[in-house]
Amino acid sequence: MIKTKDGTFTLKSEKYNECYHSSEGALRETLYKHVYPAFEVIKKENIKILDVCFGLGYNTFASIINRPKNTKLHIISPELDKELVRSLKDFPYPREFSKIKHIIKAISENFYYEDEWIRVEVIIDNAREVIKSLDRVDILYQDAFSPKVNPELWSFEYFKEVKRILKDGVLTTYSVATPIRCALYRLGFRLYTHSYDFIRKGTIASFKKLDFLEVDFKEKLKRVKCRVIRDKR
Ligand SMILES: C[S@@+](CC[C@H](N)C(=O)[O-])C[C@H]1O[C@@H](n2cnc3c(N)ncnc32)[C@H](O)[C@@H]1O
Repeated sequence: MIKTKDGTFTLKSEKYNECYHSSEGALRETLYKHVYPAFEVIKKENIKILDVCFGLGYNTFASIINRPKNTKLHIISPELDKELVRSLKDFPYPREFSKIKHIIKAISENFYYEDEWIRVEVIIDNAREVIKSLDRVDILYQDAFSPKVNPELWSFEYFKEVKRILKDGVLTTYSVATPIRCALYRLGFRLYTHSYDFIRKGTIASFKKLDFLEVDFKEKLKRVKCRVIRDKR
């Protein structure tokens, strides 16, 4: 268990030897790198979110708490670690999450929650398989561990699947790594970043023109090679 700089807690994974969130703040990262930018872009009555991957569920829970008015959310979130999800009903979440305690409990026990406005499905399976079964999502939170330990969720082939389901949606990620941005760029995404100066930059990707700071990746490619991560054969 690790206390991050905004006072919220995260975990360090023994298997991956990485933390589930940046030391800047688990809740802060979730809100400013994922939830706020995504809801700024996607304004619809029914929003479908793919949360890759569930982990401690911060992205899913913060989306529920910040759900735009009169909007239905359908969140699908793959996760390999069933026992982790089962343990979450006792996790010391930020106090903002206390109003959705019943949702956290239901997801932790049943991997599912549904009411009039919210449907959450945590799918205990490989995200690479789950994404193949989807047609279209509006928001994709790209929040795997780093490419070094979780390469299957950062490869060019994976991002091709992301492109297939994202259509006119938006991807948010904490990563600013060149091979990741390069994969997205080669697939035709426009790359943006948020303008908050109290948190490290991330990447926001979409095929549409967005109202964020655009990354001049063409200029960057005059100086660096556009290498991407490939699936292992
Ligand atoms: C950085 S954590 C996700 C943090 C999470 N978004 C949160 O808000 O707490 C990455 C998660 O991805 C899961 N994971 C890694 N590879 C996976 C895969 N191929 N398919 C599904 N889940 C995977 C890990 O078990 C871990 O829980």
